[in-house]
Amino acid sequence: PRPTPPLGALARPCACQSAQDTGTSSGKSLLILLTADIISTVEFNYSGDLLATGDKGGRVVIFQREQENKSRPHSRGEYNVYSTFQSHEPEFDYLKSLEIEEKINKIRWLPQQNAAHFLLSTNDKTIKLWKISERDKRAEGYNLKDEDGRLRDPFRITALRVPILKPMDLMVEASPRRIFANAHTYHINSISVNSDHETYLSADDLRINLWHLEITDRSFNIVDIKPANMEELTEVITAAEFHPHQCNVFVYSSSKGTIRLCDMRSSALCDRHSKFFEEPEDPSSRSFFSEIISSISDVKFSHSGRYMMSRDYLSVKVWDLNMESRPLETHQVHEYLRSKLCSLYENDCIFDKFECCWNGSDSAIMTGSYNNFFRMFDRDTRRDVTLEASRESSKPRASLKPRKVCTGGKRKKDEISVDSLDFNKKILHTAWHPADSVIAVAATNNLYIFQGKIN
Ligand SMILES: *[C@@H]1O[C@H](CO)[C@@H](O)[C@H](O)[C@H]1NC(C)=O
Ligand SMILES: *[C@@H]1O[C@H](CO)[C@@H](O)[C@H](O)[C@H]1NC(C)=O
Ligand SMILES: *[C@@H]1O[C@H](CO)[C@@H](O)[C@H](O)[C@H]1NC(C)=O
Repeated sequence: PRPTPPLGALARPCACQSAQDTGTSSGKSLLILLTADIISTVEFNYSGDLLATGDKGGRVVIFQREQENKSRPHSRGEYNVYSTFQSHEPEFDYLKSLEIEEKINKIRWLPQQNAAHFLLSTNDKTIKLWKISERDKRAEGYNLKDEDGRLRDPFRITALRVPILKPMDLMVEASPRRIFANAHTYHINSISVNSDHETYLSADDLRINLWHLEITDRSFNIVDIKPANMEELTEVITAAEFHPHQCNVFVYSSSKGTIRLCDMRSSALCDRHSKFFEEPEDPSSRSFFSEIISSISDVKFSHSGRYMMSRDYLSVKVWDLNMESRPLETHQVHEYLRSKLCSLYENDCIFDKFECCWNGSDSAIMTGSYNNFFRMFDRDTRRDVTLEASRESSKPRASLKPRKVCTGGKRKKDEISVDSLDFNKKILHTAWHPADSVIAVAATNNLYIFQGKIN
């Protein structure tokens, strides 16, 4: 049996400490939690007041940002645990004799339409729609059952009672509303809610399906790149996303470093793309690893919908949707690893899938690296910074100090040499608050939330 995660440790909001604004130029930070399990996805809701994380154990933890409180001026910005629930359980596929992991691959919020919140969570095979709702009243005085839920003896019921609502402590409930199963043969890597708020897509290694949020028993296959003969397979789908405003447009990236933009108006099956984004290869830097490191691990539209960003092993690229031939910007994430590719191949790190994200105004981008470092790029000033998610930097009032990796030559004080980087500490998942300078950084089983002037 799987060890049960220590929920008690999570449910204690006081585990979060907030830092006070020191007025320095760097960010203040707060360490949010230590989970028992490796965090596999982080996602803010559309206003940024809720932050959901998914983990390897199939659990979803939702944090809520505290509202302004005059008597505690620094409390705004604290994220406290709001709800924790088990989204997926391990399963067994008897036909293929395969274990299906419960790990949450992605979470996507739905725009809020009533008092409840809805989100989609997925593991390798099954997508679930969850409703998260609050309850602070309880009905009492039912006719057919008593307060404990036991049926009452019908012969003893002599009068008709009108149930009444009694106040109770606030309870946050998560209930599964829909289960979208049996539509993926390969592992689901992406889900994306359409701007029509009625449909969403799910992508696996070879196919992309389109679903209606209300309908679970069928989906439409909109992309299928599976070759008739699997031995001819040369390319897999690595990520897919809907355009933020045009409900007919979506993109998907591939292991060959390309991005295809598809328009569902032109045909029902989007096997033929309408735009194809690819950077011509520089023959001088060609090596045995070229193809592996050009594989795209994440693709994200900017909030404006004008640009998109892709992450490959060594860089992030910003593309203008109107220019397919080359990226508008290329930002090096950890170029110093180019000389280390051989050992990164041997320890499988070269296959790590780093994600990337935009800030609220699309003028800064963030992505992860090794040694618990993450990188931020300011697109306007062209400045970049390397920061570290660590216990040290998450002390209250601590500010984030930029880190530097020494690449040959004499190592300066405060610099870290490439050879002492810890490749087991990797930051794959990060999220940026949609309107504020607040970021969430998942470092294996720690979640860090930094806020203030970050970059
Ligand atoms: C504000 O903080 C005080 C002191 O901690 C607390 O008693 C009060 O309930 C808070 N008010 C709100 C609206 O959360
Ligand atoms: C995000 O969550 C907050 C906190 O509950 C809520 O007030 C807000 O409406 C949500 N935003 C959207 C757009 O769903
Ligand atoms: C995004 O980053 C830029 C550059 O650092 C900053 O000026 C801007 O305020 C940020 N926007 C948001 C919404 O965080």
